[in-house]
Amino acid sequence: MSQRPIRKAIIPVAGLGTRFLPATKSMPKEMLTVVDRPVIQYVFDEARAAGIEHVVFVTGRNKGVIEDHFDIAYELEETLARRNKTDILRTVVAARPRPGETSFTRQQEPLGLGHAVWCARDIIGNEPFALLLPDVLIKGKTGCLSQMMDVYSEHGGNVIAVEEVPPERIDQYGVVEIGDGSDPLWTVTGMVEKPKREEAPSNLIITGRYILQPKIFDLLSRGSAGAGGEIQLTDSMRPLMNLEPFRALRFEGSTYDCGSKIGFLAANVAYALDRDDLGGDFRGEMKRLLSDL
Ligand code: G1P
Repeated sequence: MSQRPIRKAIIPVAGLGTRFLPATKSMPKEMLTVVDRPVIQYVFDEARAAGIEHVVFVTGRNKGVIEDHFDIAYELEETLARRNKTDILRTVVAARPRPGETSFTRQQEPLGLGHAVWCARDIIGNEPFALLLPDVLIKGKTGCLSQMMDVYSEHGGNVIAVEEVPPERIDQYGVVEIGDGSDPLWTVTGMVEKPKREEAPSNLIITGRYILQPKIFDLLSRGSAGAGGEIQLTDSMRPLMNLEPFRALRFEGSTYDCGSKIGFLAANVAYALDRDDLGGDFRGEMKRLLSDL
C-alpha cells in the first residue's frame, strides 16, 4: 500500500543533562562522545539511513555547538584536504548534512517532551514525521527507524518502537498496552507515562523512536501537564490511538540509555568493540582490566 512518505524527523535536544554534570556544564549532553562521535551523530545517522531528508532539532539555550557540529567546518576541511588527510576528511564530510537539510528551533521553556515536539509543528507542517530521542542509542544490523519505516510502508498510521524491561525499571518509561497482533508487531490499545510498577499495563516500554501522524500537533496544543508536571507526549498519543491505527514494533537491536551513566559507558564499550579499527586492541585492554579485578 502506498503511504504518505516520511521525509522529516524531529530530534529534541533541549534537555539540561544534569545527570552528567560537570561534563555538561558548558557542553550539551548530546555532544558527549561514544568512541569518537557525539551521541547525536549516531541518532542523526540512524535517521538518514532510514531515508529522512530533513531533521528538525528542537534546541534550548547553550546548545549552539550542536548547530556548529552539523555545519561545514570550512577551515578544518580545507586544512585536512591540504594535508592529504583523506580518510578523516571523508568521515567529517559524511557526518554533516547537505545545505538546507536541517532546521533549528528553540523550546523556550522546559515544559516536557510533548511541548518540545509541538515546538516543531510549523516546520513539520501537515505531514507524518519521525521522532528520535537522542538519549537512546540502538545498535543492530538495521537501524531501528528503518525497521519502523518497513512497518509504516505496509500499514501506515502511527508506529512506536517498544522493548521489554525488567519490572524494577518500568516506572522510568512510557508503557504500552497491546491488543491484536503477535510478536514483534501489535496494535496499541493503551499507554501510560511512568506508571507505578503494579499499575503498568505490560512490561513493554516506549523506546524513543516514533512515526507519528500530524494530528498529534492538535492534540498536543490542548495538552496539559501530566507525569512529573510535564506536558507528556504519551498523554497526546493516547487520544491519537483512538483516531488512527497505532502499532508497536518490538525492534531488533540492543538499546543503550545514554541519559544514564551506566548506559553511556556500556555504549562506549559496545561501539568500541564493534569497530574494525579498534575492536581487537580494545578487547585485549578490556580483558586486562577485567582480569585485574
Ligand atoms: C521519554 C518518554 C517515555 C519513553 C522514554 C524513552 O521519557 O516520555 O515515554 O519511554 O523517553 O527513553 P524521558 O526519558 O524523557 O523521561
